[in-house]
Amino acid sequence: MANIFRQIDESGGIFKDERVLQPEHLPEELPHREAQKKDIALALRGAMHGMRPENVIIVGRPGTGKTVTVRVIFKELGEASNRVVPIYINCWEFSTRHAVLGKIATALGEILPRRGIAADEIFERIAEVMRKEKKVAVVALDEIDRLFATRQGEEKVLYDLLRAGENYGVNFGIVGITNSEDFMVKVEGRIRSSLAQREVEFRQYTPQQLKDILGERARLAFQHGALSEEVVPLCAAYGAKNGGDARLAIAMLWKAGKIAEKEGGEKVKVASKHCKAAFASAETAVRNERLAGLGETERRILEILRERGEVHSGELYSLLAKEFDVTDRTVRNYIDRLESLELISAEARERGKDAKGNSRVLKLSG
Ligand SMILES: Nc1ncnc2c1ncn2[C@@H]1O[C@H](COP(=O)(O)OP(=O)(O)OP(=O)(O)O)[C@@H](O)[C@H]1O
Ligand SMILES: [Mg+2]
Repeated sequence: MANIFRQIDESGGIFKDERVLQPEHLPEELPHREAQKKDIALALRGAMHGMRPENVIIVGRPGTGKTVTVRVIFKELGEASNRVVPIYINCWEFSTRHAVLGKIATALGEILPRRGIAADEIFERIAEVMRKEKKVAVVALDEIDRLFATRQGEEKVLYDLLRAGENYGVNFGIVGITNSEDFMVKVEGRIRSSLAQREVEFRQYTPQQLKDILGERARLAFQHGALSEEVVPLCAAYGAKNGGDARLAIAMLWKAGKIAEKEGGEKVKVASKHCKAAFASAETAVRNERLAGLGETERRILEILRERGEVHSGELYSLLAKEFDVTDRTVRNYIDRLESLELISAEARERGKDAKGNSRVLKLSG
């Protein structure tokens, strides 16, 4: 019997290089982000000459290419200059002042003792190496809003970096990344103006832009001829419909390929039916995630609607009141929440002579 792995590999199959569809992949080209890339690079350019670069804030919805663009820029910046140390930090992972400084120190080649040292001391060491080696550090703080989220003052690390010039004579550049539009509004005025010396907006991708991005990935990922023509536009449209999100569109393309691959045979092509299956399973995943976040009463509401089809809101209240400690108001809140999660639909009903105000007809959606 032939070795199954060789068989699979030699059959050609669907994928040429599946890895380019995975989140870690760093693409060589960034279609439709050339202008933003240049804008950010211009802000950082001074670092190559030992100067303090302009700080940048990047704002944009999920999946609009913020992280990938900065990672590409940092790679090129590191290649272009020995003097600049680009340091990428995700603040979900490194969410305290201590953790961020620790990460910067390590990137500069400092070995921190295991016993742990205070943040101030870490900062002293950072400043010392940078001075000695005449380095400029450019620090990307991805998901920068996390530093403010704990309300423990972790954002103090921004002052450390912003004031390092006056206090220690060393230069940092900061590239803050956020997908929260109101983040900048909430940040204190002084920090805001120092951080946002340049603000770069990443807009949602249009269907055509997603088509270009996907087309490039598809060329690298799939065997020649393994993709029917309609697949890239379908996945692009799906991503565009869901927030102009390239991550989602790429994930769907990958998933459609996996579904087609499972069908086996060399001649299988990824076709629109595979895309549809991929979209449906993504929707189930989102739905399950939403369901997992629900409380007992909300789950009971869904059960009641499943059993009875349509239920009048007043009737729902009486049913729930038998089992739970609810008021009119809390039931209304539950209904609103389930409706906003698109798990149920609630339609206002004509007010008949015995119907109360605000009455609605409820049913499961989809
Ligand atoms: N212009 C582009 N060209 C090629 N690939 C892109 C482009 N924009 C985004 N991508 C790809 O789409 C995916 C999502 O991009 P990225 O992670 O940069 O989004 P993001 O804006 O940081 O989103 P979030 O706010 O959720 O962190 C990645 O796999 C990335 O490689
Ligand atoms: Mg990101």
